[in-house]
Amino acid sequence: MKKLVVLTGAGISAESGLKTFRDMGGLWEEYDVSEVASPEGWEANMELVLRFYNDRRRQLLTAKPNDAHIALVALEKYFKVQIITQNVDDLHERAGSKNVLHLHGELNKAQSTGDPELIYNIKGKDIKKGDCCEKGHQLRPYIVWFGEPVPAIEEASEICRSADIFLVVGTSLNVYPAAGLVNYVPSGVPLFLVDPQAVKIPQGRKLTLIREKAGSGMQKLNKILIENYR
Ligand code: OAD
Repeated sequence: MKKLVVLTGAGISAESGLKTFRDMGGLWEEYDVSEVASPEGWEANMELVLRFYNDRRRQLLTAKPNDAHIALVALEKYFKVQIITQNVDDLHERAGSKNVLHLHGELNKAQSTGDPELIYNIKGKDIKKGDCCEKGHQLRPYIVWFGEPVPAIEEASEICRSADIFLVVGTSLNVYPAAGLVNYVPSGVPLFLVDPQAVKIPQGRKLTLIREKAGSGMQKLNKILIENYR
C-alpha cells in the first residue's frame, strides 16, 4: 500500500461547527492570540486562558466528525494513511482514523506546569485555577502555544519524508514550523490541496488544487485517489 500523508488544519473541522482562526469571524478576530495562546498570556491572566480553552473543550463535546473526517477514514482501505493535524480537537480519532499525530496538542488533555511529562485525559472537563498534578503543580491546557517548541515536529518531518502522496486540507499554512512540513515531502510526490480559499501554495510542486470546502472536496479527492493513485 502507498503511504498517504495528510496535513490538516482548522478548516477540516469548520463544517463540524468549530471556528477556524484566521477566516472572517475566526477565533483570532474575537480573541487576542498573545493573551490566550502564549506563555506570557498564561503568566498575565491564567483564568482568561483557562476560560478560553474550557469553552473550546465544552464546544467540542457537542461537535461531530463531518464528511471530510469520514472520507479520510475510508481511504485507509486503499492506502496507509497517516494524519498530521494542527487541530487540537479529537474529530479525526472519533471518525475512526487510526494514525493521528497532533502537532499543537489536544484539548482533551491537561499538562502539569511543573513536569511536562505529566499529561492527563480530562475528556470535556474544565481545568480550574487550583487543579493540580500529582506533584502539586497547577494544570494547564495541553496546547502548544505561540513561542513554545513543537515536540512532535521531528516525527512529523520524518513522516513527510516518507510520503508517496501528500494532502493538505483546511489550513492557511501560516503557522511555522507546521507550514514548513510540505518542504520535507520529496519532489515528485503528488500534492493535493483542499481549501475554499487561496492558500500560500508551495512553489515548483506537482500540485492539484481543489477549491472547495473539505466535506465536498474530500469526496471528490477520494474518487481521484482511489481511481488513479492506489
Ligand atoms: P487557519 O484559521 O489559519 O486557516 C484555516 C483554513 O481553513 C483557511 O485556509 C480557510 O480557507 C480554510 N477553510 C475554512 N473553511 C473551510 C472548510 N469548510 N473546508 C476546508 N477549508 C476551510 O487555521 P490553521 O491553518 O489550522 O495554533 O491554523 C494553524 C494554527 O494557527 C492552529 O493550529 C492554531 C492557530 O493559531 C495554535 O493555537 C497553537
